Amino acid sequence: MLDGKKSLFSGMQATGNLTLGNYLGALKNWVTLNEEYECFYCVVDEHSITVRQDPAELRKRARALLTLYIAAGLDPKKNCIYYQSHVSAHAELSWILNCYTYMGELNRMTQFKDKSAKHTDNINAGLYTYPVLMAADILLFQSDVVPVGSDQLQHLELTRDVAMRFNNLYGDVFTIPEAYLGKVGARIMSLQDPEKKMSKSDENPNGSIYLMDDTDTIIRKCKRAVTDSDNQILYSEDKPGIRNLIDIYSATTGLSKEEVEKEFDGKGYGDFKLAVGEAIVSVLKPLQDRYNELTADKVFIDQMIKENAEKASYYANKTLRKVQKKVGFPERIR
Ligand code: TYM
Repeated sequence: MLDGKKSLFSGMQATGNLTLGNYLGALKNWVTLNEEYECFYCVVDEHSITVRQDPAELRKRARALLTLYIAAGLDPKKNCIYYQSHVSAHAELSWILNCYTYMGELNRMTQFKDKSAKHTDNINAGLYTYPVLMAADILLFQSDVVPVGSDQLQHLELTRDVAMRFNNLYGDVFTIPEAYLGKVGARIMSLQDPEKKMSKSDENPNGSIYLMDDTDTIIRKCKRAVTDSDNQILYSEDKPGIRNLIDIYSATTGLSKEEVEKEFDGKGYGDFKLAVGEAIVSVLKPLQDRYNELTADKVFIDQMIKENAEKASYYANKTLRKVQKKVGFPERIR
């Protein structure tokens, strides 16, 4: 709760190419929720350096991601869209919360286990305490709701636990946030291996639809999607490939699973895969067009970066000062 209005926080990493999973699991819901809440949408560049990055590339991707938030339909006059690294309170609160988070809790985080297995040469402390920075992001803005895909639920649970622990010690300092998962699309799977989530870091580009893929590429990837061989469009546990395509079709058209099954009753996988590809194009093409228009408008984007960093800092510092006082840091002399 911020100034009497419910608040919302979410963020994405500017690493790799964003996928349809990021869009359907998160960005799409951000756009539908943004009227109801005071919203903060962050490009979490500080999280990105837990894995080694090329500096010029990171800067470029961070700007592209921020532009994409706007292209997806978030009005930067109404929503606070900003870079995490421009608001120092994130790192400051993160340090404090580190002292209220147990190693046992961090040891259980599956994302840490996955990422450290992938980057054996660089298992750094930042990778380990990554979820604490995420908790700081969320708690700084007294967020009521955090729209994410299901892979982030464990981090959200940790955030809630740390916030409750802190509140139990010091009174009602933090709002306890709730995760928001969309009805469909919270876990979009790889087109090549439907047991695995669609991911920016997948080495096989055919497993993911990237938000900037052109029409032909999208259709081709859908046509090649791995499915079983019985040629029936049914939402079933033992048909993970078709189930994933139904989820994608349903999330992009707004139809329910039952309506999708009915629409394709008696039709084959070829027709269905083509329809899924076309449905994705109908969502991504306008997003890409708007993105290309926006990137040309440097002055507009620069101005909003400046204004929104100030706005985010204002709210973030309000929470930070309260926390600093609670833990016993000396008061600032004005
Ligand atoms: P990131 O950048 O990996 O992903 C951004 C958002 O996309 C969702 N997502 C998916 N949803 C459905 N299907 C998929 N295959 C899929 N892949 C990704 C993610 O769940 C996420 O919502 N740690 C976060 C970023 C973060 C954050 C935060 C999020 C940092 N601080 C505070 C919320 C609140 C991350 O790495 O997301």
